Amino acid sequence: MDKISSKHMQPRHRGEWGSKLGLILAMAGNAVGLGNFWRFPRMAAQYGGGAFMIPYFLALIIVGLPIMITEWHLGRFGGQHGHGTIGPMIYLQAKERVKPRTALVLGSICGGLAFAIPVLINSYYNHIVGWSLNYAFQSLIGRMGPDVDKTAAYVDAISNPLPAILFWIIVMILLAVAASKGIKKGIEAWSKVMMPTLYVFGILLAIFALCTPARPDTPNLTALAGLEFLWKPDFSKINWEVVLATCGQIFFTLSLGMGLIANYASFLKKDDDIVVSSIATVSLNEFAEVVLASTAVVPLAFVFMGKDLIDPSMGSIGFSFMAMPNAFNSLPGVLSNIVGACWFFLLFFAGFTSALALFNYLVTFIEEGTKFSRGAASWTAFLVLIVLGLPVVIEPILNAGSQIYFDTVDSWVGSYLVLILGLIELIVVGWMVKPKKTLEGINSGAKAKMPLWIVTCFIKVITPAILLVVIINATISKVQTGYFSLTGGENGHILWTNIGRGMIIAVFLFGLIVSIKLLKREYSKDLVKNK
Ligand code: ALA
Repeated sequence: MDKISSKHMQPRHRGEWGSKLGLILAMAGNAVGLGNFWRFPRMAAQYGGGAFMIPYFLALIIVGLPIMITEWHLGRFGGQHGHGTIGPMIYLQAKERVKPRTALVLGSICGGLAFAIPVLINSYYNHIVGWSLNYAFQSLIGRMGPDVDKTAAYVDAISNPLPAILFWIIVMILLAVAASKGIKKGIEAWSKVMMPTLYVFGILLAIFALCTPARPDTPNLTALAGLEFLWKPDFSKINWEVVLATCGQIFFTLSLGMGLIANYASFLKKDDDIVVSSIATVSLNEFAEVVLASTAVVPLAFVFMGKDLIDPSMGSIGFSFMAMPNAFNSLPGVLSNIVGACWFFLLFFAGFTSALALFNYLVTFIEEGTKFSRGAASWTAFLVLIVLGLPVVIEPILNAGSQIYFDTVDSWVGSYLVLILGLIELIVVGWMVKPKKTLEGINSGAKAKMPLWIVTCFIKVITPAILLVVIINATISKVQTGYFSLTGGENGHILWTNIGRGMIIAVFLFGLIVSIKLLKREYSKDLVKNK
């Protein structure tokens, strides 16, 4: 690990976080995203409220926390060797145990996966951030009133080229501008404004939700009954499907298995405290998800929608962009506009800071593979993501609001490939590096040291074992529902399903090839000697 090539003795200045608070807010911005407000409340409701929360907390502690700490450690370790992407980090860790050429295979596969995952998630995520911005303005100017059919409005927002493209491009330009300013002046500075704003909006919405009275025609549907529905434990409804859903949610909400946490951690200083910082990131994310999103969204939805809240056919998008604005319409005129705008600005800020973390991974990848400056790499990333985001915007325009491509990429990348990358990371860090050395890396600079059993029990055994079981079950369920069938894609729309699959394979192969070249270029001496 320490035998790094001479090129790496003088890495280019990669930038670093300016302050502890800035780092924590940026990391929280990375994690707190659409997953917290758009995915979590609907999933929790759909899987039975109290039945979902028990496996959710178990998954958070047993799966989420160990991987979070592993990715912080992996990232800081990579940053010390001049790397901010997963491929070289995994290569250097694996080389502790296996020969360089075997480490090259692992590093390249992880490099390819960690290229495909953030880039593809970013390619659709930016659109949702754009729709949120569009809806925030529409709500503010009173265009989301009770007379508006929310399903038709949503279809229009995504299939009318002007709003669909305009708001997407605005978001993309903002991302490129923020990323081009670098870690401290860009990502950190923007997060310092956006994250507190997001929490203020979340707290306002939560207070508002708790004070909302039941409607006269449904007196039993009170805000408190909504909270009870979420928080009353119900062991009888816990099954495998719920467990799989909770693990997927933990990965998505904490940005795990995406390369994003390690990327941000690569800009840490050598003696930064990663134990406290990683726990602070998880806590801020869970505050936004379990406290704010639950309190703001579930009671409101319960009062206005009742049992429709758990309609599984609605999906996260239907819930956020159709059901919630309908719910707000039960409020008197201006209040309905303000609360609606508050909800969509909340989605926008949450989504934007996570989109920035996704975007920054690609910028770092381009910087490492070329001699581009940060500015040039940011605008190159902008162009790449415009091209990759095209199918997401074209399909609904051509097919009256259809989103099969989006669903295909989201379900494969956002809830399946992330688990695989997370598992490989744990296997490499847990099994290829001596536990004491990993612990030393984690504890370096930490005020409260982490005990060895976290590495030997969790990072090495329990967490990867659980993840393996989850992946096997997820694979079986995907086989049964036709995900691997070339002729029967999601909802039978095979053309866009296969375009989505083709895109995933193409982007992965591109990332794989570039990762091989990059590792061969950086570590040629090691690879020739193969010792
Ligand atoms: N962690 C980010 C989210 O929750 C990706 O949306």
